[in-house]
Amino acid sequence: MEEQSIVILDFGSQYTQLIARRIRELKVFSVVLPCTATLDEINSYRPVGIILSGGPSSVYDHDAPPADDRVLALGLPVLGICYGLHFIAHKLGGKVRPGPKREYGHAEINVKGQSRLFEGMPPSLNVWMSHGDEALELPSGFSVVARSSNALAAMENEPQKIWAVQFHPEVAHTPHGAEVLRNFLYRVCGATGDWTPAAFIDEAVADLRRRIGDRSAICALSGGVDSAVAATLVARAIGDRLTCVFVDTGLLRENEAEEVIAAFGPRIRLHTVRAADVFLAKLAGVDDPERKRAIIGEEFIRTFERAARQEGFIAEGGDRKGLLVQGTIYPDVIESRSRESKTSARIKTHHNVGGLPEVMALEVVEPLQRLFKDEVRLVGAELGLPEDILWRHPFPGPGLAVRVVGPIDTERLDTLRRADAIFLEELRAADLYRQVAQAFAVLTPVRSVGVQGDYRTYGSLVALRAVATQDFMTADWARLPYDLLERVSARIVNEVPGVNRVVYDISSKPPATIEWE
Ligand code: XMP
Repeated sequence: MEEQSIVILDFGSQYTQLIARRIRELKVFSVVLPCTATLDEINSYRPVGIILSGGPSSVYDHDAPPADDRVLALGLPVLGICYGLHFIAHKLGGKVRPGPKREYGHAEINVKGQSRLFEGMPPSLNVWMSHGDEALELPSGFSVVARSSNALAAMENEPQKIWAVQFHPEVAHTPHGAEVLRNFLYRVCGATGDWTPAAFIDEAVADLRRRIGDRSAICALSGGVDSAVAATLVARAIGDRLTCVFVDTGLLRENEAEEVIAAFGPRIRLHTVRAADVFLAKLAGVDDPERKRAIIGEEFIRTFERAARQEGFIAEGGDRKGLLVQGTIYPDVIESRSRESKTSARIKTHHNVGGLPEVMALEVVEPLQRLFKDEVRLVGAELGLPEDILWRHPFPGPGLAVRVVGPIDTERLDTLRRADAIFLEELRAADLYRQVAQAFAVLTPVRSVGVQGDYRTYGSLVALRAVATQDFMTADWARLPYDLLERVSARIVNEVPGVNRVVYDISSKPPATIEWE
């Protein structure tokens, strides 16, 4: 069964992904397409409605982002948001001008008369505005639905099935925003709400069976939520024709390898490689973080390749067979698409542990490529994965190698593991683990003087890092309670040999990064 969808045409708003997420939270599948998408591409998703996003431009700019205005005449309901409203007004013969006053932030709007978009809502609403231009004259056939004290806030043309709002219903600052979107989906587009984790799983499993047929698949399991859910989904489709390779690099957190084996061993065919010695030998004496990343990335691929050979995915002569499962998710897809059109400076060589698809030369299958992170968790929960795995903070591919600053050895890794485990344990006990996006300890090369009992010590400095972020591109340090920090610090200096000082990292990103290396 093909599910219903909403196509969102992206005019460059910083909120476009948010629109897509809100629609999906309302149980309707949505896709973000560039505003230049062709009608064929739009129709290929068989949408029940179209949303035109906001954007930073003015419709009169010579480089204003274009869209095929025939989308307004497909007979499908259309909802324009901010720039989307200006686009509609401009294309259909209305007038858009720079407003006398920019509206930015909270505004109150008054809804006049009846509109399906605002059904069930009070006549006066608090909304979030962010625009300079405004529609001064409406195209013929349109009527004003709502106004703020400064400008038009919503317009519609029922017979032509076009609605448009000047404010942003997708942001949390618009308290009734989700209701506006729900009305558009359910009262206007006739959505049935068929986008649920269970429906996704049924369809994905059927799809994977068709696509994989009687072949086999291999997957690198990292213990992170994406690869865990991707692997579990594929295993549901093809059972033990899926082999998961789990490499214990010796750079994982305390007990992590055992936890992964305990969680997946009973349900998935697991090929575990204990490779700590090899990784540590290659990393001996290396202190440059990019060299560490390169060494780990290369060794990981080599280890994975060996496992794939043993499992029959690479034949004697080098011939490949079977598929490679990757846990790519929707934001990765959107970002790599927009990265193709931008030149971005290389700040850190992230995601180097991977590079698997090119090296393995196997057909790639990415069962989560349509899902946002929160949907991956919902699907994982529906598949019965433990909460611990579903809510685990992201962990860098090179693991603790980039959290022991400077050269790595077993002793320093063990010291870090203990300190990190204490931090996470206390964070969980305080019920704050899920509220921060990422938290961990760093072992610095700094040594400082301390005093313990009657003795002077010269010990290591551990830094604690905890950040709040949505997308990991920018981040703020988490305002953890002092008493929690105090408990963590006291436990670390008392329980972890060789550590006599703990500091809390209060740098935001930018200018700092989340990791220290
Ligand atoms: P930074 O330190 O750049 O990190 O602010 C942003 C996010 O990326 C993770 N990270 C990595 N992930 N390989 C990865 O797979 C890497 O080399 C790597 N370095 C950083 C980091 O943990 C954070 O979530």
